[in-house]
Amino acid sequence: MNVTVSLGSRSYAIVVESGALGSVGGRLRALGVGARAALVSDAAIMRLYGKTVADGLEAAGFAVTLVEVPEGEAAKRLDVAAQCWDALLAAGLDRTSTVLALGGGAVGDLAGFVSATYMRGTNFVQLPTTVLAQVDASIGGKTAIDHPKAKNLIGAFHQPRLVVCDPTTTLTLPPREFSSGLAEIVKHGIVLDAEYFGEVERDAAALLARELPVLERVIGGSCRLKAGVVERDEQEAELRAVLNYGHTIGHALEAASGYARFAHGEAVALGIAAEARLARRLGLASEETVGRQERLLEAVGLPVRIDAVDVEALLAAITRDKKARDGHVPFVLAPRIGAFRLVYDVSPDDIRAVMAELRPGRG
Ligand SMILES: NC(=O)c1ccc[n+]([C@@H]2O[C@H](COP(=O)([O-])OP(=O)(O)OC[C@H]3O[C@@H](n4cnc5c(N)ncnc54)[C@H](O)[C@@H]3O)[C@@H](O)[C@H]2O)c1
Ligand SMILES: [Zn+2]
Repeated sequence: MNVTVSLGSRSYAIVVESGALGSVGGRLRALGVGARAALVSDAAIMRLYGKTVADGLEAAGFAVTLVEVPEGEAAKRLDVAAQCWDALLAAGLDRTSTVLALGGGAVGDLAGFVSATYMRGTNFVQLPTTVLAQVDASIGGKTAIDHPKAKNLIGAFHQPRLVVCDPTTTLTLPPREFSSGLAEIVKHGIVLDAEYFGEVERDAAALLARELPVLERVIGGSCRLKAGVVERDEQEAELRAVLNYGHTIGHALEAASGYARFAHGEAVALGIAAEARLARRLGLASEETVGRQERLLEAVGLPVRIDAVDVEALLAAITRDKKARDGHVPFVLAPRIGAFRLVYDVSPDDIRAVMAELRPGRG
């Protein structure tokens, strides 16, 4: 499946196809970029998929430099970015050259930041290998490194020239990492597309079993939805906030638990369950709308019940949310499947009440 992200002169294609990693060289050649390329990845991913990409690039005539970075969030640091700049300079990359990110969202965010800043911007290609990176992080041009005091604080918008998602790469993900990425897929369905949500409901078991045709269709559908949002709101003015569904409470759960207790998608699943219940509590959504969201999350291996949350710490984390405006944190709520609404007047008592509903054993 091919999805186009239409952004005028910054438009690009997202290719979603099993085996597509082998075709990256030819696709990049077709964009008419310079002959030098740097492939940025961590050691494990380089071992799994680096050769396929590098061989293809070389066969297409590129001079390829491999740049290895630490795994996961540890890649998103200024000293790692500086090492990448050094490697690019040593290999003679210039503004016509291309930086390719092969890996999860962390490698993509770092390599995108390096590409955005090296010589004021080189060509950039995303080769995402986690579900989260394929349906979310690789699309939209947000790049960043972390600051010791806050995640993603230092960054730039820098759209890729090409995104290649090869669903076969997700077969090597640990189960928890795989399911975690599915939370973003469920999120896209809930707030953007009822028909897509219905397809994911129908295919949930096959998706969890990682059947390739289903993976390809579901990941492709989710890329299409995220691309549509990015097209309508490239720089995150208003509409892009819809992608924050489940994340206001999800991020706060992560922050209040020191980022150790939950995988990101687990926190988002709990955030969706809580925010679904907020919509019902405020009289916007039906019980059935809440139930469908929770059932699908559970069907793809994600939690919707939680005990022992420090709700006051959670509330404090919500008010520190960087999306807060004048002390009000906007909530994206789903009045029904396939629709959303921004709500500004959620009270702390509403949040206390829905978190109490999420305790195991409750309805
Ligand atoms: N730029 C954006 O719009 C955006 C959106 C969402 C998230 N993010 C960022 O994405 C990051 C999280 O990304 P993530 O969830 O992909 O995690 P990750 O990048 O931290 O990767 C998690 C782990 O999975 C491993 N891995 C990756 N692909 C694999 C594969 N195919 N098989 C086996 N192991 C594999 C990695 O080596 C790593 O150890 C965060 O830093 C977050 O801030 C960015
Ligand atoms: Zn997320």
